[in-house]
Amino acid sequence: MTASASDPAQALVPRHVAIIMDGNGRWAKQRGRPRTFGHAEGVEALRRTVEAAGDLGVRYLTVFGFSTENWRRPVEEVNALFDLLRLYVARDLDKLVREGVRVRVIGERQGLQHDIAAIIEDAETRSVRNDKLNLTIAFNYGGQDEIVRAARKLAEEAIARRVAPKDIDPALFEARLDTVDLPPPDLLVRTSGESRLSNFMLWQSAYAELVFLDVLWPDFGRPALEEAIALYARRERRYGRSDA
Ligand code: FPP
Repeated sequence: MTASASDPAQALVPRHVAIIMDGNGRWAKQRGRPRTFGHAEGVEALRRTVEAAGDLGVRYLTVFGFSTENWRRPVEEVNALFDLLRLYVARDLDKLVREGVRVRVIGERQGLQHDIAAIIEDAETRSVRNDKLNLTIAFNYGGQDEIVRAARKLAEEAIARRVAPKDIDPALFEARLDTVDLPPPDLLVRTSGESRLSNFMLWQSAYAELVFLDVLWPDFGRPALEEAIALYARRERRYGRSDA
């Protein structure tokens, strides 16, 4: 079972898997531990998933690490999530680069602490020549925020007369999104039994197959990813065509 990147509609393995890693808090609560313990275990699940995705032939993996709405959480939890990004990159970047993983981070960079912005730039620069697996971490990311930033860029370009409003079409718009280098997700997975997009990849998921699994994120790994891919492989993708 190998991915055929040239014909993603027919591929059994999705070229691009996007994941909303949900359920860390509930996983910790079930164990009488603080929510931050669940997030730390969530990083272990992320490690397992990156490895499994590479093994299974997935070319693009995009995960939701911190949303523009997560700022509403208690400051200790927000700090813990930032620390986990620092820790993940510090511990795993060398190995990811060695194994051919290209790391990207999407989301609003402005307003992030300087060291976080520097860590992100370093990870992207050091892995820029890789392409075995493209790992994208959505951090300080919101789909609506991304769309508004793209609209703002186009408005500025129109005022500067670099773009004519009549030329604005989906392709031109898409080229201003954070995901400019990425194909759209074929499969979008959300864990923890919730069935919402929660502002994740709103534009890009127009034709994604959605899979909602009951597993809490810290319990995720190769078997759950295989289950999601098996569900995906049974779907018929039509992209607006009729089934005749
Ligand atoms: C949702 O669970 C998860 C998050 C808000 C954060 C996801 C982050 C990680 C998996 C670890 C961080 C990894 C990086 C690389 C930054 P929740 O807290 O909403 O769970 P709940 O719905 O059970 O409360």
